[in-house]
Amino acid sequence: MTQPLWWQSGVVYQIYPRSYLDTDGDGIGNIAGITEKVGYLHDVLRVDAVWLSPFFPSPMADFGYDVSNYVDVDPQFGSLADFDALTAALHGRGMKIIIDYVINHTSDRHPWFVESRSSRDNPRRDWYVWADAGPDGSPPNNWQSIFGGGAWERDEQTGQYYLHSFLKEQPDLNWRNPEVEAAMFDVLRFWMERGVDGFRIDAAHLIMKDPAMRNNPPNPAHTGAPDEYDAFLHPHDKGHEDIHATFRRLRSVLDEYSEQSPRMAVAEIHIFDWPVWASYYGSDLDEIHMPFNFGLLFGPWTSETVRTVVDSVEGAIQPDAWPNYVLGNHDVSRLASRLGTEQARVATMLLLTLRGTPTLYYGDELGMQDVPIPVEKLQDPAGHGVPGQGRDAERTPMQWTSGPHAGFCPPNVEPWLPVSADADRVNVEVERNDPRSMLTLTARLLSLRRSSPALALGAYRPRESEDGTVVYEREADGESWLIALNLTSDPRTVLLPGTKPGQVLSTHLDRESVDGLDPLVLRPNEGLVIQIEGA
Ligand code: GLC
Repeated sequence: MTQPLWWQSGVVYQIYPRSYLDTDGDGIGNIAGITEKVGYLHDVLRVDAVWLSPFFPSPMADFGYDVSNYVDVDPQFGSLADFDALTAALHGRGMKIIIDYVINHTSDRHPWFVESRSSRDNPRRDWYVWADAGPDGSPPNNWQSIFGGGAWERDEQTGQYYLHSFLKEQPDLNWRNPEVEAAMFDVLRFWMERGVDGFRIDAAHLIMKDPAMRNNPPNPAHTGAPDEYDAFLHPHDKGHEDIHATFRRLRSVLDEYSEQSPRMAVAEIHIFDWPVWASYYGSDLDEIHMPFNFGLLFGPWTSETVRTVVDSVEGAIQPDAWPNYVLGNHDVSRLASRLGTEQARVATMLLLTLRGTPTLYYGDELGMQDVPIPVEKLQDPAGHGVPGQGRDAERTPMQWTSGPHAGFCPPNVEPWLPVSADADRVNVEVERNDPRSMLTLTARLLSLRRSSPALALGAYRPRESEDGTVVYEREADGESWLIALNLTSDPRTVLLPGTKPGQVLSTHLDRESVDGLDPLVLRPNEGLVIQIEGA
C-alpha cells in the first residue's frame, strides 16, 4: 500500500469520559482525568489514538448523545481549556484525538430546536423534521424510535409532530436543509481548528430519510410485539441514497484541513449487508474513511461467524479501502461477559492481528465485565428502568487500583455507576504486575503489532482449518506471521505443513515456542501468533 496514514496503521481506544477518571470529586469522570492517564495510554497500552464519547454541553438525557451546544465542553467534564490540554498532551506523545460527532439529532434544549418549535414560521422551523398529523390526529407515519415507542412527538403549541429516531429529547435534524448542513460542517471546522484529528460520526446513516416519508414495511421475520423497532424493515427512515452526496461534501470539509495533517471520519453504520455497508466508503473512496464494522459484535461466537465476517468484509471493500474491526463499545454487553474471560483473550488476539484498524473499548484490556446494576441505580434511559436492559452494565467506572472505588473517584464520593465487585483483582495496578493478565496480553499484542509491518499493514490470507478454529496469515515484505485461534474449550489440531515456526505469543502467555506446525495442537481457548521462519 502507499504510505499508510495514522488511522490505518494505528489502534484506536474508546473512552467513555464519564467513566474514566474523576479528578474533581463529583463521581463523574472528566477530561482532566483522561489527561492524567495519558501516560497509561501511551506507555502501558501504547495505543495510537483516543476516541472520546461526547463531552459537550448536554442535559444528559442520553448522557451526552443529546447535545445542546456542539462547540463547548459540559462543565461536568471541564472546559475548553481542559480539552486543549488533553489534545496537547496526546499530540505531545504522537497520539491522535477523535471526538464524537452527533449528527442525526440535537438535544431538545439546543437553541436551534427551541427556536424551531417556537412557531411554524420560525426561520429554523425546517432545521428539524416536522410533519402534520394524519387525518385522525395520529402520527404522520409508522416510524418507530430505536429506544422504543413511536418516533413522532406531537408538539402542542404548533400542532405538528417532530421526528426523534431515539428519545423524544433528541429531535432529528433535517439534513436536507442546506443551512443545517452548513452549521454542522462549521462544527467540524471548529474542532479541527482546535487540533482534532478525527470524528466518530454517531448514528451516521440515519441522517437521510425518504423525502416522501412513506411508511416502513413490516419485517416478516419479526416475532415480537407489532410496534417494536424490529417489527419493521427500515428502507424509509434511514440510509436514503441522497446520503452519499452529503457524505462526499462532509469529506471535502475534512479534506480542507488534511494537508496540514490528515483528518479522518469513522462512522457508526449498523448495516450487515456488506456491499451496502461498503458503499459508505464512497464509490471513489470519497466519503467516510471507515464505516465501523460491527460484524464481530453480534451473532454467535463461532469460527464460521468470524470467517464469514472477515471474508465478507475483505470481499466487499475496494482494494484501496481500509477495513476495521471492533469488539466492544458503550452500547453493547462487554466482551468478557459475552464470550467469557478465556475467549475474550482469543477475541482480542483476533482483533489485534486482523488486517484493519482495531478499536478497543476502555476496560476491555483488563477483562472488565458487565456490572449488574440495582434497579434504583439504573441510569440509561434506553433501559426504561428494566433490570438487565439498557447500557449501564458496560459503562461502569474504569478499574485502576484495588483501593476504594477502584481508584476511579475519591473514597468519600459515590461514583455515578457502581464499580464492579471484581475490581480488587481486575484492575490496572494488579494486572500490570501479572505476567499472565489480560492487560499484559493486550499490551504484548499491541507492541507486537506496532513492531511488525506484516501485522499492522500486511496482506491477510485465510487458511483452511478444522471447525472451531480460525487460521490466517499476515505477510509484508518477506515477513510473515501465522495466527491460529481455537474458539472452543476443547483442544484442536491444525495441520500447517511446510512452515517453520519462529517466536510465538500464546493467549495463555506461558509458552514462547511450539514444537512444530504439522500438526499444531491448540489447547482449549488458546490462540497463537507464530512468526514464520524463512518466509
Ligand atoms: C449511537 C450511540 C448511542 C446513542 C445513540 C443516540 O447509537 O452510540 O450511545 O444512544 O447513538 O445518539
